[in-house]
Amino acid sequence: MWRGVIEEYRDYLPVGAKTPVVTLLEGNTPLLPAPRLSERVGARVWLKVEGANPTGSFKDRGMTVAISKAVEDGAKAVVCGSTGNTSASAAAYAARAGLACVVLIPDGYIALGKLAQALVHGARVVQVRANFDRALALVRELAEKEPVTVVNSINPYRIEGQKSGAFEVVDVLGDGPDVHCMPVGNAGNITAYWKGYREYQDAGKLKRLPRMMGFQAAGAAPIVLGHPVEKPETIATAIRIGKPASWYGASAAAAESGGMIEAVTDDAILEAYRFLAKEESVFCEPASAASVAGLVKVGAPPGARVVCVLTGHGLKDPDVAIGQIAVPRAVDADLAAVMEELAL
Ligand code: F0G
Repeated sequence: MWRGVIEEYRDYLPVGAKTPVVTLLEGNTPLLPAPRLSERVGARVWLKVEGANPTGSFKDRGMTVAISKAVEDGAKAVVCGSTGNTSASAAAYAARAGLACVVLIPDGYIALGKLAQALVHGARVVQVRANFDRALALVRELAEKEPVTVVNSINPYRIEGQKSGAFEVVDVLGDGPDVHCMPVGNAGNITAYWKGYREYQDAGKLKRLPRMMGFQAAGAAPIVLGHPVEKPETIATAIRIGKPASWYGASAAAAESGGMIEAVTDDAILEAYRFLAKEESVFCEPASAASVAGLVKVGAPPGARVVCVLTGHGLKDPDVAIGQIAVPRAVDADLAAVMEELAL
């Protein structure tokens, strides 16, 4: 049986025999072949379906390590600022560990499913009239004044856990892919994947390092522009971030691997989002689709092995999903009316 990220990859993680393992059996997510996307871009594409994690996003990989270490270090409470997924994951893992959890979220800019998760798992949720960057700054200030552990990806244990995504890719493919595509927001995840690939290379598990391709939303693309964005805007609220904490890590991953950080428009993100749902049967959230929008934009060498990380589940953001299609109207409960509606 799969034992969760810490037990499966213990040798690569900063945990000891005394670390209390707080896990929801995260990880081991599908690496799904994507035949129609492969045909479209002329490469062999796999989708790393991170929505299959316990709280529906990749954040669980880092949260199992961050919360376990917080318990080991005697913490009583954790705090994070979030565009939604970190708060959902922190709330769930904190509940499991019996820790109090405080989350600061940008007022009106987090997807409904994510807000619901933080609330049902019992976190203290504060909606701040500000964007994510400001919420994270407040979290740092709060942690200086109060005895709380920050579980954003500025906590290095988060990055440690998230690198397990790269291990899983290599464990399935038998080597690194040629190209690795992913969305970039606060830039922790691309930093983590690159660390994971390099550690597996050091361990002799991988011969070929992928080119790391990170994609920001065009309205929230500070790394691409080379300066912070004061008022980031995108439909992909998960990556609506103007001043990424791991800016350096993302730039280094792209530079060292011969990859790039690029921008994709909201239209391209939504096109990829619909394509993934209709053609590959994977319902991911808009931010996740940025990886595929990016691949479609920049292309890949013919026949290259490409992995696109789909970071979160589509059900997290029902408003965007429903906004993409015409909501069906109600008809009378008789067969004639149903058939008329279907134009049969
Ligand atoms: N995709 C999703 C679904 C996310 O929730 C995030 C980040 C990213 C991609 C970008 O990852 O920040 O490591 O570059 N969400 C954070 C949060 C910011 O608060 O949930 P990143």
